[in-house]
Amino acid sequence: CYDQASCGCCLMQRQMNRTETYFNKSVEGMHRLLSESKKKLTDMRSRSAFSVALNNDSALTCFGPFNEDRLIVYKHVFLNLGGGYMVSTGVFTAPLSGVYSFALTIYGKAPNNNTLAVCASLRVNGTVVTGPTEKGMYDREDSATTVVAVKLKAGDEVDVVLPAGCFVCDNSSHFNTFTGFLLYATD
Ligand SMILES: *[C@@H]1O[C@H](CO)[C@@H](O)[C@H](O)[C@H]1NC(C)=O
Ligand SMILES: *[C@@H]1O[C@H](CO)[C@@H](O)[C@H](O)[C@H]1NC(C)=O
Ligand SMILES: *[C@@H]1O[C@H](CO)[C@@H](O)[C@H](O)[C@H]1NC(C)=O
Ligand SMILES: *[C@@H]1O[C@H](CO)[C@@H](O)[C@H](O)[C@H]1NC(C)=O
Ligand SMILES: *[C@@H]1O[C@H](CO)[C@@H](O)[C@H](O)[C@H]1NC(C)=O
Ligand SMILES: *[C@@H]1O[C@H](CO)[C@@H](O)[C@H](O)[C@H]1NC(C)=O
Repeated sequence: CYDQASCGCCLMQRQMNRTETYFNKSVEGMHRLLSESKKKLTDMRSRSAFSVALNNDSALTCFGPFNEDRLIVYKHVFLNLGGGYMVSTGVFTAPLSGVYSFALTIYGKAPNNNTLAVCASLRVNGTVVTGPTEKGMYDREDSATTVVAVKLKAGDEVDVVLPAGCFVCDNSSHFNTFTGFLLYATD
């Protein structure tokens, strides 16, 4: 459109093209922002990691022994990403279905050397998965560690039980830790 007669129309067309280009760029930008935000949200939702210790007492404090099984409530929280660990109950609830890794370290110190029974059981939905045990007659301190990877469904509960007759002891050295994290999510 080079002839004078259509010049007004030509300018109008150019103006419209500019407006359309600007509009298209804005829409593209908004789409990019939206997908970035969605990705961040998914990443944040899939963060699940906790690490807790029995207590943070200055003096060594023991839990147990009892005549019956008792749930161990780990009171000192190092990390609770995703809020899966409930400090009031001691229970971890899987926020997402996936493969999780759990590590449990127990420690106990006997006042004399013939009553040492350091043991605990890691459970998924009430079923024992692993139960480290250290019953020693000839020393005063015992410790044991176990690490497992398990596949969980969202809502499954993981906790640690102190079997009857066993005990664990801790102070701010944090010899008793319970740790879990999501390795990867599954459907
Ligand atoms: C609009 O402008 C762009 C770049 O300035 C050009 O490539 C395109 O051909 C133009 N489209 C129309 C319909 O004029
Ligand atoms: C704007 O986007 C629409 C749809 O994607 C496309 O058909 C049109 O050619 C684009 N306009 C410009 C000026 O880039
Ligand atoms: C844990 O105990 C240590 C020393 O006993 C103290 O310095 C620290 O502040 C305590 N931490 C928490 C979170 O209570
Ligand atoms: C612990 O047991 C051993 C072997 O029975 C014994 O020799 C030792 O004196 C005991 N130690 C304590 C602190 O009771
Ligand atoms: C575990 O318990 C939770 C809560 O009661 C339940 O939703 C889930 O289906 C159970 N999972 C298995 C594998 O039994
Ligand atoms: C915790 O108790 C153990 C065993 O009695 C002791 O060796 C350690 O020094 C204590 N830790 C702290 C920080 O007091």
